[in-house]
Amino acid sequence: MALEVRPIARPLNGNLLPPGDKSITHRALILSSLAQGESRLSGLLDAADTRATRAAMAQLGANFTATDDGFLVRGLGGRLSAPESDLDMGNSGTAMRLLAGVLAGQSFNSTLVGDASLSSRPMRRIIKPLLAMGAHIEATPEGTAPLRIQGQALRGINYSSPVASAQVKSCVLLAGLYAGGRSHVDEPLLSRDHTERMLPVFGVELPQPCTVEGGSRLRGAHLRVPADPSSAAFAAAAVLMVPGSEVVLREVGLNETRTGFFRTLQAMGADIEIERHADFGLEPVGTVRVRHGGVLRGVDVPEAWIPSMIDEIPVLMALAATAEGVTRVRGASELRVKESDRLAVMSEGLRALGVTVRDFPDGCDIDGAARLVSGTVDGHDDHRCAMSFALLGLLCPEGAQVVGADYIDTSYPGFLADMRRLGAVIENTPGTQ
Ligand code: S3P
Repeated sequence: MALEVRPIARPLNGNLLPPGDKSITHRALILSSLAQGESRLSGLLDAADTRATRAAMAQLGANFTATDDGFLVRGLGGRLSAPESDLDMGNSGTAMRLLAGVLAGQSFNSTLVGDASLSSRPMRRIIKPLLAMGAHIEATPEGTAPLRIQGQALRGINYSSPVASAQVKSCVLLAGLYAGGRSHVDEPLLSRDHTERMLPVFGVELPQPCTVEGGSRLRGAHLRVPADPSSAAFAAAAVLMVPGSEVVLREVGLNETRTGFFRTLQAMGADIEIERHADFGLEPVGTVRVRHGGVLRGVDVPEAWIPSMIDEIPVLMALAATAEGVTRVRGASELRVKESDRLAVMSEGLRALGVTVRDFPDGCDIDGAARLVSGTVDGHDDHRCAMSFALLGLLCPEGAQVVGADYIDTSYPGFLADMRRLGAVIENTPGTQ
C-alpha cells in the first residue's frame, strides 16, 4: 500500500475524537482478563496491535463480548488456561513484553511470536529481570522472539531498569503479581505510568510507588479509555503546518508521562489550549485546541522530556522542518529499537523531501524553513513514520507518495478518514509499491 498525498490548498479545520489510547487499551484488556468477575471497557483502540492482545487473552481463556461502545470481559480470576498454540503478538512490542511478564509465573508453558519487525526487537531487557525472578525463558541467540516460556514459581525482585521503558517496568510489575513477596522497579526517568495507575482501578493497591505485592488479586472494573495523545499529535502537527488551521481534539489523555509533545509544541511557540475536565479511572482527560498562529521556532528538546514523547519524535521531526531555526533531539537512542530504527527512517525520508538533517547516535538536528520538494518516501512499514511523512507531503509543491505505509492500521486505522475530515486529501492506493 502507498499513500498519495495531495498538496494542501486550504486550512485544515475540525473537531476530532482521536482513537483510544493504545497503551491503556493493552493494559485494560490484560488486567480485565486477569481479574475475578466482569469488567466493562469502553473507548478502546480497535487496531491490529490491540487485537493481538485481545486474541491472546482469549486464547488464555478470557471471554470478550462486544457491547455498543467496547467489551464486556469475563475475567479469569487468575486461573489462565494453557494456550493450545503460539500466541501471536503481531507488530506489538507492548503486547509481547507485558504478556511475557504475565506468562512467566503461570503453571504452563507458552510461546510468544511476532512479525518480522517484532522478531528483531530486543527482548533481553525483559528476559534479564524475569530470569532474576526465577523464570525460564528462551529466546534466539540474538535475544529476540520467539520467546519460549516455561511457567515457574517466581520470587519478587527489586529491579533497577537501565532504560526508561514502560514495557520493561510493566512486565516486571505484572510478573510480580504472580511472584512470592514484593516487586519494585526503578527507572532512570519516569516512563508512562499507566500500569501503576490502572492496578488500583482493578482493586490492587500499590504499597509504594511502582511496587506490587505478590499474590494480589484483581477484581473486575468499569473503565473508559481516553483518546491517544500519540495519535492526537498528528492532527495537532498538521494544523501547525498549515496556515489558518484549527482543530479541537476531544477526550485526550493528559497523563504527564505522555504529554511531552504538547509541552514541546508550546516551547516552539504554538498556540495550544489544554483544558482538563475529567478523569477516566486515574487518567486525566481533557480537550486540546490547536491553532496555527504563525511559524514555529526550532527547539532544543530537553532530554528529560523524551520518555514522555518518545512515540511523537517522528512527527516532531517532520514538523521541525517547517519551523524557523534548528530543532535538536538528544537522549532518544530508544528510537533505534522501535517498530523500525525511527531516527534512520525519518532522516532518510525527510532528506528525500528536501529537509536537512544531521544524524547523531541518540538523536538528530533538523534545519527548519526547509525548501520542500515532492518525491517518494519510504515509511519502512512503521506506522508513525508513514503518518509523519504523509503530513509533510501536504506541504510539498506537488504532494508526495509514501510507500511502506501498510502498518498505519496497527495504531490508527482511522488516520486517513480523520485527515479527510480536517480537509486533507491523502489517498490510499493499494498495490502500489
Ligand atoms: C509503550 C511504551 C513505550 C512506547 C510504546 C508503548 C507501552 O515503549 O514507545 O509505543 O505501552 O508501555 P518502551 O517501553 O519500549 O519505551
